Amino acid sequence: MKLMGTNPIIDLKPKLSDFRTEVLQGLLKDPKKTHPKFLYDERGSSLFDRITGLEEYYPTRSEIEILEKQGPGIADYIGEKSTIIELGGGNGSKGSIFLRSVKSPVEYILVDISREALELAVKNISSAYPELVVRGICADYTNYDVMARLGINGRKSIVFLGSTIGNMEPEEASQFIGNCRRIMSHGDTLTIGVDLKKDIGKLERAYNDPSGITAEFNENLIERINRTFGCTIDRSAFRHNAFYNEKMGRIEMHLESTRDQTISLDGVAVNFRKGETIHTENSYKYSLADFRKKLEDAGLENVVYWTDSGANFALFSAKA
Ligand code: AVJ
Repeated sequence: MKLMGTNPIIDLKPKLSDFRTEVLQGLLKDPKKTHPKFLYDERGSSLFDRITGLEEYYPTRSEIEILEKQGPGIADYIGEKSTIIELGGGNGSKGSIFLRSVKSPVEYILVDISREALELAVKNISSAYPELVVRGICADYTNYDVMARLGINGRKSIVFLGSTIGNMEPEEASQFIGNCRRIMSHGDTLTIGVDLKKDIGKLERAYNDPSGITAEFNENLIERINRTFGCTIDRSAFRHNAFYNEKMGRIEMHLESTRDQTISLDGVAVNFRKGETIHTENSYKYSLADFRKKLEDAGLENVVYWTDSGANFALFSAKA
């Protein structure tokens, strides 16, 4: 693919999901569920930014600690003169830290489905690294055909931070890693941030902060439903519920109906019993051994990882 001109953004016009259709479909399922991506409208994204600064929410802090302290080791592993491809990098703040240690990167390519996030990240990284060629590709990185079309020559280093992989079902995560593997050549690296299994109390506190920001983040979905469908479900109709499901190895977030109620969405009646929930997010936690195996099962080799001082979080790297 050729990137021309001064505009560093290539828009592959990813198919955007339709909140209205998908949410209604999800609410007609039993059990009711919605995709976690729907939590991130403008307000949701800014609430998530606040979550990352909470004392109880350790993942972001832990991953930043790893990027800051283990920079030289990570850079050695990746090798010099790589093209860095960061998938879904948010505002680019972690990418900037990651770049501090990378040795003579050829260019930095950001891939994100959100054009807005992409523009911001490209701007932030370009101004932090004025000498570096930074480009953005607006595309859905979970789509293999898109990944295969990136057509990058030379050494590649794919980076997927933020434990976003935890939002995928384990099977999907394996498929995603396999797709990355298929576009990698010998010696290319894949680096993924992974939240680790740990004390249940600590896991649950991270999703039940006493200041209620996570609850607001979750309940914001109700506001978005109200806005989209023009209905008036009130704040007290659903409450935030997040817990660790030990058997599945995941934090689950739900919105729990506080009473028997029927809501009408585009003329379709959706019934709730008191205590029934909308399952709004899964956040899978892995053991070091499990995630290593996942990478190896996808055909990757030479698996290494770095953890923070509290062993809360791991940054894994592997080679094709
Ligand atoms: C963005 C998926 C990493 O699972 O911890 C934070 C989202 N949800 N608090 C996570 C989230 C509730 C977060 N990820």
